[in-house]
Amino acid sequence: MEILGIDIGASGIKGAVVDVEQGVLTSGRYRLPTPQPSVPEDVGDVVGQVTRHFGWQGPIGCTFPAIIRDGVAYNAANVDESWVGTNGQKLFQRKTGCPVLLLNDADAAGIAEMEFGAGRGHDGVVFVLTLGTGIGSAIFVNRQLLPNAELGHLEIRGKDAEWRASTYARERKKLSYEEWAKALNEFLERLEFLFSPDLFILGGGISRKHDKFLHLLHTSRAQILPAQFFNQAGIVGAAMAAKALVLELFGNG
Ligand code: BGC
Repeated sequence: MEILGIDIGASGIKGAVVDVEQGVLTSGRYRLPTPQPSVPEDVGDVVGQVTRHFGWQGPIGCTFPAIIRDGVAYNAANVDESWVGTNGQKLFQRKTGCPVLLLNDADAAGIAEMEFGAGRGHDGVVFVLTLGTGIGSAIFVNRQLLPNAELGHLEIRGKDAEWRASTYARERKKLSYEEWAKALNEFLERLEFLFSPDLFILGGGISRKHDKFLHLLHTSRAQILPAQFFNQAGIVGAAMAAKALVLELFGNG
């Protein structure tokens, strides 16, 4: 089954057609910049453009970098404030003319990693953390997702963890990998104390360069693995999540 996956980030909106049974892209990726300011109508127009690029008329799975419940955004850390209370799912349905399932970006990335990536075969408590403009988090307990965890906003010495340890923080503060790893270790240590996870999977675009920093990270017990989908996890996981939509619309037959 093929579904269009769209991943909305603070700087780019990317799409690709995904074979959701295999967890692979069956088209090239198409990326447009996220409009600034990233107000809902303008973001919706770009989602429409990405959809039309593929000539797509089927179901769409779409990520968004915020808490998403029943299609509605409940916070807006790295997107325009006017998203709070907006039903993005309905908006994108209107802009694309297609059925859309909207979910948190890190939850989507986690779904892809657990099924086809670094989380394959891992039960217990698994945290998928996406390092980018913010820090996204997806928690799995025996492979079941606890949606909308916002661990990137856990306060560390008076500031959100993502302000200190995201990829954006590394760039903004011009940190070496050693310095950045220190901030990330502080975050991982806190998470380990609070939740005792068995495994951390570190994703986001920077996971492609994991050889530069993974050896600098340490936990007392939890294993740490790099994500396998790098920054494609959102596209793949969003499409996988939208499988539910297809079953709802067309049933099993
Ligand atoms: C948002 C999360 C999102 C993460 C990664 C955070 O600032 O609050 O919802 O998953 O950034 O984009």
